[in-house]
Amino acid sequence: MSFLSSAFSSANWLRDQLFDRINSTCLAVLRAGPIPQHVAFVMDGNRRYARIKGMKVIQGHVDGFVALRRVLEICSSLDIKFVSVYAFAIDNFKRPKEEVDGLMHLAENALLDLCTRGGLLAEHGVRLNTVGRTDLFPPEVQAALAKAEELTKDNHRAVLNLCMPYSSRDEIAMAVEETVHVALLEGRTEPITEKDIEDHLMTTKVNSPPLDILIRTSGVKRLSDFLLWQCNDNTQIHFIDTFWPDMGLFDLLPIMLGYQRKVWSQ
Ligand code: FPP
Ligand code: MG
Repeated sequence: MSFLSSAFSSANWLRDQLFDRINSTCLAVLRAGPIPQHVAFVMDGNRRYARIKGMKVIQGHVDGFVALRRVLEICSSLDIKFVSVYAFAIDNFKRPKEEVDGLMHLAENALLDLCTRGGLLAEHGVRLNTVGRTDLFPPEVQAALAKAEELTKDNHRAVLNLCMPYSSRDEIAMAVEETVHVALLEGRTEPITEKDIEDHLMTTKVNSPPLDILIRTSGVKRLSDFLLWQCNDNTQIHFIDTFWPDMGLFDLLPIMLGYQRKVWSQ
């Protein structure tokens, strides 16, 4: 090895060491304060990220999956008990076939990787809960999602609500329909309450609490029909400019510190 290449590899090693130290110090600082119970992400900006880098759209989604892994690791090391992510809106079926097929392929393969032994969810004791109209997916994707849920059903440390194919209005409409169905079957005469509807939401299946923090990446300021019922008057909503595939600890840090400051000042 030449002197120059050995100097470069030493410099890279030093940089990585320094970066790891900074990361673990930031995580330790955050862990010393109050931790939100439920954080949700609208993972937006994958295609713009890909276009800017001159990549194919699907590569933006693949890099988005890598970012999902990275963010889940951070959430897990902060001991956040519930994480919800918007992975595919019902509306996304209207996108070009090539892109939808690519996302289906990613869902089928990459998710199982996360859930099998040695995968991130298995390692961190996270249960996968799919939230949405999975019956709209191709049978092989439905089977992979069911298998991923089955593989993680005995994990109790945390929950990942994977929302796909999802829309909040659809979830609420289904919850109302089920509530009315049960009320009719039971011949119930009392009025239907908020709690009845909430009991039939798909996030309630795993006892998800209301959202503490909702983050949307990529500079777009819209809720896009995501977890509307699960937000309440205490939910902190953040729109940040980072494209989802670039999302990391340094984007989360100010949001988490802001959350801690608000909790302390209550
Ligand atoms: C939104 O960015 C992103 C999506 C519609 C897909 C999200 C998927 C991932 C993050 C990968 C994880 C995937 C699975 C299947 C678990 P966009 O496509 O709207 O990008 P744009 O806003 O720049 O157009
Ligand atoms: Mg978008």
